Order: sequence, then structure tokens, then C-alpha cells
Amino acid sequence: MGVVDGIKQRVGKWVLERSMKDGIDLRKLRFLPDSVTMPLKRDGLDPLPEMAVVRREEPVKKLATMFGKGIWLVSGYDEARAALADGSSYSNDIGQFVSQEGRSDEEQIGGLGMTDPPLHTALRRYLTPEFTMRRLARLEPEIERVVNERLDAMEAAGPEVDLVKEFAFPVPFQVICELLGLPVEDRDRFFELGVARFDLSQGGVGVFGAAAHSREFLIKAVAAQRAEPGDGLIGGLLKEHGDQLDDLTLGGIADGVFLGGYETSASMLALGAYLLAENPDAMKMLREDEVGSAAVDRVVEELLRHLTVVQLAFLRFAKVDVELGGQQIKAGDAVGISLLGANRDPAMAGEHPDSFDPHREPTRHLAFGHGLHRCVGAELARMELRIALRALARRFPDLTVTSPRADLDFRKLSAVYGVEALPVHLYGAHDRVRV
Ligand code: HEM
Repeated sequence: MGVVDGIKQRVGKWVLERSMKDGIDLRKLRFLPDSVTMPLKRDGLDPLPEMAVVRREEPVKKLATMFGKGIWLVSGYDEARAALADGSSYSNDIGQFVSQEGRSDEEQIGGLGMTDPPLHTALRRYLTPEFTMRRLARLEPEIERVVNERLDAMEAAGPEVDLVKEFAFPVPFQVICELLGLPVEDRDRFFELGVARFDLSQGGVGVFGAAAHSREFLIKAVAAQRAEPGDGLIGGLLKEHGDQLDDLTLGGIADGVFLGGYETSASMLALGAYLLAENPDAMKMLREDEVGSAAVDRVVEELLRHLTVVQLAFLRFAKVDVELGGQQIKAGDAVGISLLGANRDPAMAGEHPDSFDPHREPTRHLAFGHGLHRCVGAELARMELRIALRALARRFPDLTVTSPRADLDFRKLSAVYGVEALPVHLYGAHDRVRV
């Protein structure tokens, strides 16, 4: 999906290029206005208090005007849902705003989340058959195997471990490798490239060149399977459409799947485990009920709503003048849709939208987006979360986070919210600080 590349890297580049063209060097501007960064900031797991005020007073709000174009924030649920559903008024194609000249093929801006029909329709048509319940059922035993392997490894390394490093990242990594059909012997190398790509310590964009290297790795994996297609998504697409898809295009599709599914699922597992450790009631529901039960589904859906790790949808650009929530958005304006704001809107979530309530009646949350670009991996993500979090709750029912919330290193200004490390005691060190 490219949420990380997309919003942080590419939009960053886009803004920089546009501003340089206009003779403004944004690199000299050390601070962006608070109104623009507010939707990406949180207080622990909650939006900043300003979000509720903005949503109540102006659910569609113009934050700034840059280069003559409006930049809007949509934070109301109904308005967010309407904008996400309106594929004819908005474009996701950032390429039309950024010159592609001088970029190598690997650098061309693309990916499902940043394309419009008819290209989007064509790309998505390739992918959806790989995500049917029947295809996903193939992955279920593998997810169970990977989860149990990680739980065993944690048990061996415990009683104190970093749950992000030992569980939250390795589980979705192995699941996506299996989904794509990457040979086991190549995975360590790919894992290293993935780590470098999501290492945000280097100014928020990952280690230089890491994105190109992991994309290159996938392009080579496609080339290697062309003669003998494997069982996974790459092999499936080669068998069905090998004559229409060259290595670069198929490598790009695989990379989009990797980007879309890896960091998002890892963040949900880490922050989900954190919330569960604080909520014995939710822990009990997971422990005592089976995967497939209403109780397990309910906990996972409420985790998805409450955490909304994809805080902001891909930027939308108005193709025509359009009215939204009583505001007039002009053609060419950029629209940021706060999925977090929408999912905490009382209009959808009811009276206590900011509380985590595992018994909450199912909601129509937007954690996976809505409309044309709705997450293609949503059912896989759900399956993974249900299996992994339930198994964690059963194996370590007294799991305790050993750092107070204030000491945890939550991501700053990242389109995908997460935590860098989660120190836990597997058997509950009750004498330790819990906040
Ligand atoms: C809990 C985990 C996940 C969350 C919260 C999540 C969230 C999202 C959201 C909000 C969007 C829509 C963005 C927009 O409309 O602007 C999206 C799109 C997408 N996601 Fe996910 N996702 C998750 C897991 C996955 C997985 C496991 C995969 C694949 C293996 C995946 C692949 C994609 C792709 C390819 C798109 C682009 C779809 C399109 O533009 O048509 N995601 N995801």
C-alpha cells in the first residue's frame, strides 16, 4: 500500500519539490504549523484533545493554503466516509502533481493506494483473487505455526522480552513471506532490508536506499519464479497473468502488499498486546473463547477501532470543486482524512468514543478505510490478529508491560502509529510499575 513511503516520503518529496519550484526552501522552515501536524500526534494511544474540538466545530476544516492550494482535514465520521466513498470527485494519484522525469523505473511513484481507475481497477483485479477466504484458509495453519514458534522463542528468552522485536514484527513478516511465496532460505536477507526500511531513527524516512533494495529483492524473486512459479501470490499471478506482467510490475505489486501489510499488522500486534495487558477483561475474553467466536471478533474489532494505526488515509486530491460537510473544496486541493478522528467520533462510536470497551456493540469503523481503496488485506489482517492475540493471551495470561506509559517510545508524526519497543514480563511482575 505504501502508506509509509506514500505519506512520509513521497508527500514530503512532493511538498519539497513544489516549494523549491516556487523558490521556497522548505528545508529552512524548521517547524510545520501545529494545525498540520496535529492529526499525526497522539497522547499515548489517544488523539490530542484538539482533535475532538476540531471535529465538533469543523469536521471538514481548511488547515492551510500552500502554493495557492487548500490543505483540508476531515475528522468527522460521516464526512470521512463520504469522501472515501467518492472516487469520482477525488484522486489518489500523486503522480500527476510530481514530475516523474529523471526517476528510475524503481522510483516511479505508484502502488495501488496512489493510483486511480482504470489503472487501480486493473491492479486490484490482479490482487483480489489472492485474498479470497479460500486462498486465505491456506495460510491459517501457517499463521498458527509462526505464532507458536514465536511464543516458544519468547518463553525461552523470557521472562522479560521486547514484544515488538520478538513477536509483533516477526509474525506478520513470516505471514507476508508465506503469502507472497518467498523461499524460506531468502527470508533472513529480506528481513534485514525490511528492518532498514522501517528504521525511522534516520529522520523518519528509513535508511537511505532501503526501499529500493527491498523492491529490487522482490523483482529478483519474481524473475526467479518465472520459470517455476511457486504456491504463493507471486507464483499465482505468474501462472494466471505471467504474459501481461513484467518482473518490475509484479515486483511492484508484491512490494505494495509487503508495505501495506507489514508495519500495519506489526503495530496492531504491539499496541494490541499493550492494551490487552492493561485490560484483564479483554484478555479473559480472548483466552476463554475460540477463534471464530463473537467474543474474539469483538475484542479484535474494538482494538482496530480504538488503535486505528493507519491514522491518516492516503492524501486525496479534489479533481473538481466539491462540497463536503458544508465546505467548498476547490479542484486541486489536498484532503487529509483522519481515520483516527473518524473512529473516535461519538456520531459513530457512541457516548464514550475514547474508551477501549471490548464489549462494545460492533461498529462500522474505518480502520481499514472504505470504498475503492479499502484495505485489500483486511481479512488476512483480522485472521492474523485473532489467531496471534488469542494465542498470546492463552500462553501468557499475566503479561505485564514493565515500562510506564510515559517512558514508551511511541512513533512521532508517522502515518502508521506504533511503538518502537514494548518491554514486557511474561508472567506478570506484579511488583512492577503499571500505569
Ligand atoms: C491491521 C492491519 C492493517 C490495517 C490497519 C490496514 C489499513 C489500511 C487502510 C486504512 C487502507 C486504505 C487507505 C486509504 O484508503 O487511503 C489500506 C489499504 C491497503 N492495504 Fe491495508 N491494512 C492492514 C493490513 C494489510 C495487509 C495484511 C495487507 C496485505 C497483505 C494490506 C494491503 C493493503 C493494500 C494493498 C492497500 C491499498 C488498497 C487500494 O488502494 O486499493 N493491508 N490498508
